[in-house]
Amino acid sequence: MRITTLLVGLALLLAACRPIPAPAVAMVGAPGVGDPIFPLLGNGGYDVQHYTLDLTVDVARNLLKGTATLRATATQPLAAFNLDLLGLEVSTISVDGAPAHFTRSGQELTITPGAPLATGAIFTTTVAYAGEPTPLADPDLAFIDQGWNHQDGAIYVVSEPGGAMTWYPVNNHPTDKATYTLRVTVDKPNVVAANGVLTEEIDLGEQRTYVWEMAQPMASYLTTLVIGDFVRVEEPGPDGVLIRHYFPPDEVETLTRIFANTDEMVAFYSDLIAPYPFAEYGVVMLPFPLGFALETQTLSVFGPEMAMEGVNAHELAHQWFGDTVTLAAWDQTWLNEGFATYLQRMWLEDKLGRGFMDGGMRQYYAGLKGFKVAAPGRVTEAELFSEAVYERGAWVLHALRLEIGDALFREFLRTYYARYKNDVVTTADFIATANEVSGQDLTEFLNAWLYDAEMPPIPE
Ligand code: TRP
Ligand code: ZN
Repeated sequence: MRITTLLVGLALLLAACRPIPAPAVAMVGAPGVGDPIFPLLGNGGYDVQHYTLDLTVDVARNLLKGTATLRATATQPLAAFNLDLLGLEVSTISVDGAPAHFTRSGQELTITPGAPLATGAIFTTTVAYAGEPTPLADPDLAFIDQGWNHQDGAIYVVSEPGGAMTWYPVNNHPTDKATYTLRVTVDKPNVVAANGVLTEEIDLGEQRTYVWEMAQPMASYLTTLVIGDFVRVEEPGPDGVLIRHYFPPDEVETLTRIFANTDEMVAFYSDLIAPYPFAEYGVVMLPFPLGFALETQTLSVFGPEMAMEGVNAHELAHQWFGDTVTLAAWDQTWLNEGFATYLQRMWLEDKLGRGFMDGGMRQYYAGLKGFKVAAPGRVTEAELFSEAVYERGAWVLHALRLEIGDALFREFLRTYYARYKNDVVTTADFIATANEVSGQDLTEFLNAWLYDAEMPPIPE
C-alpha cells in the first residue's frame, strides 16, 4: 500500500518534471502558405535563401537530370517540411549531408530529416531528380501551359503563377523570394539563356555548361530557362546596365531594330521610379508563337507576335513592379498588371503627350463600363490575367493620379517602390502608402476603384 502510494507519487513527480511534448503537428511545416487562390502553393516553416540547380538537359528527348540544392532557414521546429514538385522522379534527398526520408503526394514532397531542425537553423537540402517535365495545365488558366515546355526542338519555361514546380523542387510562392545559381549542361550547339548574369561557359567537348547567377531575390514564378538556337545580341545600356537579348538567328536584324530603344526605356523608368534593380536586361524571343510575353526576371520571354514597343515597355516596367515589388497573394494580380499596364502608357505618354494618355484612358473607361468589367481589387482564378486586372487595374492608378496630381503621384510611385523593394505587397500596403504620401485619407476613394462592381466617376 505504502509502496504503491510512493510509486504513484514518484510517477506524478516525474510526469510533472518531464517537458510536455509539443503536439506532433506543430513540428511539421504546413503544406501551403495560405494563398487564397492556390492554398497548396508554397510551404510553411522555413525560408529559402538560395537555390543551386545543377541540371543536364537532353534537349532533343526533353529529359532533365540533376540536383537542386536549397539553403534555407527554419522558422519553427521542423521534424518534417514540404517542397513543391510536380512530376519527375526523385531518387535521393539529403538534409545537411545526411540521408532524409521522403514521401510524395500530388505536388507535395514531404521530407523528414534524420533529426528535427530547430528554429533558426540554417540547413541545406539536396534533391537528386530526373525525368521528362510536363507543363501544368489548369482549366481556369487555359491560355498557358505553366512551367517547362518543349516545342520544335527548343525548351522554354514560363511559370506564372504555379509552373516553377514542374522543373525543380521549390517553395513555390512569391512570399519566399531567393537568389539562384543555375548550371545547365546541354549538347552543342544549343544555347542556354536564364535569369541574371551568365558568369561562366564551360566547354566539355560535345557538351557545354552554362552558369547563370541571379544575385537579387526572385519569386519562383519569375525563374526561366530557354534552350535552343539563339544569337546573343548585346548593347550597352544606361548607368552600366547591360542590355542582352536572345534572338532566333534569322530574326536578328528585324528584332534588333524593334528592340533598339530598350536602353531609352530603361533610362525612362530609372528616372521615373528608381535605378533599374538588376545588372542586365533583355528579352528572349521564341521562334514560335506563345500568345504572350512574360516578365521573367532580367530576361522577359516573348512570343514573336508580341515584338512591339508597348509590350516591351510593359515587361520592362514589370522588372520594378511585379518582380522587385511583388504581389503577396495571387488574388491581387492588379498590383503587378495594373502597374505594368499604366507604366507602359507612361512611356508612350512621354513620347506622345498627356493628351494621348488621358484620351486613351477615357476610351478604355467607356469600354470597361460598357462591358461591365469586374473590379480589380480581389479577383477569382479565372480573372487572374483579365481586363479587370490590366485595364481596371491601370485605372486605379490613373484615378489616383487625377485625384492627387502629377507631382504627388510621382512621389507615390517612388515611395511605394522604395518601401517594398525586394519584398511583397498587398492592396492594403498600396492604400496606406497612397494615404501617407498624399497626406489625405484616400481609403474610401481607392476602395471604390478597387472593389465596386460599377466604376466610380472619373475625378474632375
Ligand atoms: N504576366 C504576363 C504579362 O505580362 C501574363 C502572363 C501570366 C503570362 N502568366 C503567363 C504570360 C504565363 C506567359 C506565360 O501580362
Ligand atoms: Zn504584365
